Amino acid sequence: MLNPRRAFIAAAFLLTVFFLISRSHNSEQSPSSSTESRDAEAEALAAANAQQRLPPPPPQKPMIDMSGMSTYEKLAYQYEYDIESKFPAYIWQTWKYTPGEGEFQFREQEASWSIEHPGFIHEVITDSVADTLLQLLYGSIPEVLEAYHALPLPVLKADLFRYLILYARGGIYSDIDTYAIKSALEWIPPQIPKETVGLVIGIEADPDRPDWADWYSRRIQFCQWTIQSKPGHPVLRDIISRITNSTLTMKKEGKLSAFQGNRVVDLTGPAVWTDTIMDYFNDERYFDMENSKGKIDYRNFTGMETSKRVGDVVVLPITSFSPGVGQMGAKDYDDPMAFVKHDFEGTWKPESERHIGEVQQELGEGEEAPKEQ
Ligand SMILES: *[C@@H]1O[C@H](CO)[C@@H](O)[C@H](O)[C@H]1NC(C)=O
Ligand SMILES: *[C@@H]1O[C@H](CO)[C@@H](O)[C@H](O)[C@H]1NC(C)=O
Repeated sequence: MLNPRRAFIAAAFLLTVFFLISRSHNSEQSPSSSTESRDAEAEALAAANAQQRLPPPPPQKPMIDMSGMSTYEKLAYQYEYDIESKFPAYIWQTWKYTPGEGEFQFREQEASWSIEHPGFIHEVITDSVADTLLQLLYGSIPEVLEAYHALPLPVLKADLFRYLILYARGGIYSDIDTYAIKSALEWIPPQIPKETVGLVIGIEADPDRPDWADWYSRRIQFCQWTIQSKPGHPVLRDIISRITNSTLTMKKEGKLSAFQGNRVVDLTGPAVWTDTIMDYFNDERYFDMENSKGKIDYRNFTGMETSKRVGDVVVLPITSFSPGVGQMGAKDYDDPMAFVKHDFEGTWKPESERHIGEVQQELGEGEEAPKEQ
């Protein structure tokens, strides 16, 4: 958690990094001093990271002209995916208050994550910290920052933030109203080597009923309130590119101000998340389709009771992140596959209402389109 002392250290660290980055930009003409300042920056990062018990970051890459690259290519250049790396020991959450503030109302939930994950770095990121952090992580891909700042609702920003932080740093993202039931060290079944997995996801909904479309936007819906990934995962790269593109397209067309809460699922939420993952499973760039017996779709995931691996993705059954909902085959909280409990989702309500509910919950009743979180 981000207590005042650590917040201060983080702020000092960010300021140092900014100072060094701006220095290295200014001295581009003079290679020797720019190398020096890059060394200094690497040292500063290493020192700050050592303090946070992190491995040092990979050496900074030479600056290149990225103007001709697509967002997807820039993202790939900036954050490489190394499947054999370890899952970083981070837990990321976001809320408008830090646990140190009196208004923070999720102490028990937040504590459950720390208790289950000793040794992990656990941060609850506020809006202003998110702005600073993203500036640092995505400063070289301005369209991503532009899209983030253009998003008209806090819930949209919260959605995009989780993809961005996981893409750049990896670890676990989980909504602030979730409880950890079991350590993430136990999420991947022991028979699956961790160096062959880069993304762990759960199922939000598996509504096997003819009227499923009245309730959910996809027949199988993957949840994005809890995600574990290694940095640079291609699914995250794709969803960040998609959201950046659709947000900036809407901005250009002047459609963002009229954006309605019930369309959150399509722009940043579970619908686009599910589509991106399904497309990845059928993407010839990543999977050898010749050996596949057919297209992967909802049928491969409906009714699942144990984990299933597709390529480098482990898909957990609905019980793992949605235990105790009493439907769609989800088992109870004491089931061995129950890993995370989500307070809010235990109701069988249409998605649009649930998402509007989320915004109201953040703001108090009655306010539908918040100006700020
Ligand atoms: C979105 O993607 C399409 C297709 O790749 C491209 O033509 C368009 O310029 C992009 N729009 C924005 C705003 O980036
Ligand atoms: C997915 O299901 C199809 C049949 O619907 C099957 O042919 C295919 O092998 C399955 N793929 C995986 C990875 O389970």
